Amino acid sequence: MSSICIVYATVDGQTRRICESLKDVIESHGHQVDLVAIERAQSLELASYDKVVVGSSIRYGKHHPLLAGFVERHVDVLDSKPNAFFSVNIVARKPDKNRAETNPYVRKFLGQIRWRPQVVDVFAGRLDYPLYGRFDRFMIRLIMLMTHGPTDPTTVTEFTDWARVGAFGERVASM
Ligand SMILES: Cc1cc2nc3c(=O)[nH]c(=O)nc-3n(C[C@H](O)[C@H](O)[C@H](O)COP(=O)(O)O)c2cc1C
Repeated sequence: MSSICIVYATVDGQTRRICESLKDVIESHGHQVDLVAIERAQSLELASYDKVVVGSSIRYGKHHPLLAGFVERHVDVLDSKPNAFFSVNIVARKPDKNRAETNPYVRKFLGQIRWRPQVVDVFAGRLDYPLYGRFDRFMIRLIMLMTHGPTDPTTVTEFTDWARVGAFGERVASM
């Protein structure tokens, strides 16, 4: 049995939901998983875990502001054990942008950090118009208009491919 830490950064909760699904899959293999929000991860004893997974959503073109600093501070520990990274964004709903190699945010992020995660994936997120404030709703509708996505401000659309999340969890379980 391994102990696995999943450090996640979420704003509206979709990355957290993905982490809960990963936890279910990984724990079904007899491992133990701790989910830690990045805001609470600063004093985390990362070295005490057998494996580490890091995940963050994208907002206005960027991963969570604490993410790069966290990765930089823990790069030696991350490199010393099985590790994985995933990104959650809405661009990944497009088939030609839903792989680690083809998603612009993943490519950019990996180009900016020293860490070379052993497993990398990207999951499409969720658009929840009723949840957003006026400015965010306006901006997301504009972006969706330009990129042929849903624009009805009363709708919630989940693009996440849960089978793909499950497959990622299986890979982490067997690392
Ligand atoms: C204000 C706002 C800005 C966003 N900016 C982007 C973006 O620049 N690129 C993108 O692909 N997705 C963007 N998204 C989509 C989010 O990545 C997606 O909704 C994701 O599910 C959010 O995950 P979270 O709930 O864990 O924060 C944005 C969403 C919101 C609400």
